[in-house]
Amino acid sequence: MSDTVTIIDNKTGKQIECPVLYGTYGPPVIDTKSLYNELGMFTFDPGYLTTASCRSAITYLDGEKGILMHRGYPIEQLAEQSTYLEVCYLLLYGELPTREQYDGFRADLNKRNLVHEHLERFYTGYLYDAHPMAIMVGITGALSSYYHEALDINDPVDRDITAKRVIAKMPILAAHCYKHAMGHPFVYSRDDLGYVQNFLNMMFSLPNRAYVPNPTAIRALDLLMILHADHEQNASTSTVRLSGSAEANPFACIAAGIVTLWGRAHGGANEAVLRMLTEIKDPKNIPQYIAKAKDKDDPFRLMGFGHRVYKNYDPRATIIRKACHDLIDELNTVHQPLFEIAMQLEEIALKDDYFIERKLYPNVDFYSGIILKALGIPTSMYTVMFALARSAGWIAQWMEMMTDPDFRIGRPRQLYIGTEKRDYVPMEKRSQRHD
Ligand code: ACO
Repeated sequence: MSDTVTIIDNKTGKQIECPVLYGTYGPPVIDTKSLYNELGMFTFDPGYLTTASCRSAITYLDGEKGILMHRGYPIEQLAEQSTYLEVCYLLLYGELPTREQYDGFRADLNKRNLVHEHLERFYTGYLYDAHPMAIMVGITGALSSYYHEALDINDPVDRDITAKRVIAKMPILAAHCYKHAMGHPFVYSRDDLGYVQNFLNMMFSLPNRAYVPNPTAIRALDLLMILHADHEQNASTSTVRLSGSAEANPFACIAAGIVTLWGRAHGGANEAVLRMLTEIKDPKNIPQYIAKAKDKDDPFRLMGFGHRVYKNYDPRATIIRKACHDLIDELNTVHQPLFEIAMQLEEIALKDDYFIERKLYPNVDFYSGIILKALGIPTSMYTVMFALARSAGWIAQWMEMMTDPDFRIGRPRQLYIGTEKRDYVPMEKRSQRHD
C-alpha cells in the first residue's frame, strides 16, 4: 500500500487519506487534490512556502544544505566545466549535448539570431533614459506579435522553435536596450562569435571602434549566465508557468517573467546591491548600514543578503565570489574599492548574531553586480542581464509544463475575509463611513 497522510476534520469527524508523493530528492509531498471534493476545504499557504506547484525534472535545490543541480548535474561542475549554451541545451532537452548536437543547436540558434527590422522601431517609443527593464518588458511582449497566429503551442516542433527563438533573440533585445540608452546604432548578431562574445559585441562595438573582448571577461559573463540560467519554481518562473497555463503566447509569458524578475526582492536585487555599496562609499560606514538593516523601524535591508529558499550559503554565491576575485585581479579595475566594501560587509554581517540567527547569507546577487560593473555593464542593465540568462530556464520550464499530464490552468484559491453579503444602498442614502 502506498503512503498516505490522514486529514481529519475534527468538526465533522470526516477524514480522507491523501497520497504522499516522493520525488528523487526533497521532502515528500502530500497530494491534497481531493481535499476540496472530499472535505470541502482548501489549504492556506501564503507565498506558497510549502506548496509544490508542479512536478519538474529540470532543477533541484536544497536550501538547507546549499545544493543546486540542473538535470542532476551539480552547479559547481557545470560552472567549472560547462558553457552557458551547453546548460541551455541541458535545461531544454535533459541531457548534455554531444559535439554534433551542440553544433546543430548553435546552427539552429544562428538561424534565428536576427529580429525583424520593424521591431527596432519599438525602441524609439521609449525615452533614452527609460529603465532597460521597462523596455525589455515591452519589447519581449512585442515579439509575441511576430509569432502568434502561425505559432501552435500544442505542436512540439513549434514549441522547440519558440525555445530557440527565445534563446537566440534575448541577447539582441537586451543589447539594443543599452544601445538605445547610449544613442548608438544597433549592432547585428554575428554567427562567427560565441554566444556571450556576440552579446558583448552587440553591446560594445561601434561603427568606428571594434570591441576587443578580454577572454577572462567573456568567461566571467558566461559563468554568471550559467549561475542564473534556472532556479526551480521561483517567483518569475512561477509567473511564466502561470501565464503559460492559460495558454498565453510564450513570448508574452517570458515578458510576464521579466516583470516579476524586475522586483527588487527578486532579480532587481543585483542593481540594489551596487547602489547600496556605492552609497556605503567607505568601509568605515559599514556598521551604520548594518545597524539600519537590523532596525525594525527602518525598512532598509542589506541587499544581496537572505534568500527565500537558501538558509545556508547560496552555492552560486560561493562560485561567483571566486570568479569575482579572479576578474578583479585580472582586470585590475578601479572598482576594487566596491569589492573591498563588499568583502568587509560580508565578513561583518556573517559574524553578527542578527544575521546568524536568521540564517542570512550572501546570495548570488551580492557578487554578480560587482562582476557586471567590472565588465563595463551599467547598473541599470543588471537585471536585464539576469533576465537574459534566466530566459533559458523560463522557456525550459514552459516546455516542460506544456507536456505535463497534470497540465491545467493555474488557479489558486483564497480565504475570503471581506464583508458579508449586504444590499446596495443608493448614493443619497449612504452615510460617510470612511472619514
Ligand atoms: N537584511 C536585513 N534583514 C533581513 C534581510 C536582509 N537582507 N532579509 C531578511 N531579513 C530578516 C527579516 O527582517 C526577518 O526578520 P524577523 O524574523 O526579525 O522579522 C527575517 O530576516 C526573515 O525574513 P523574511 O522576509 O521572512 O525572509 P524571506 O525568506 O521571506 O525573504 C528575501 C527573502 C526577500 C530575499 C529577503 O531576504 C530580502 O529582502 N533580501 C534582500 C533582497 C535580496 O537580496 N534579494 C535577492 C534574492 S535572491 C534572487 O532573487 C536571485
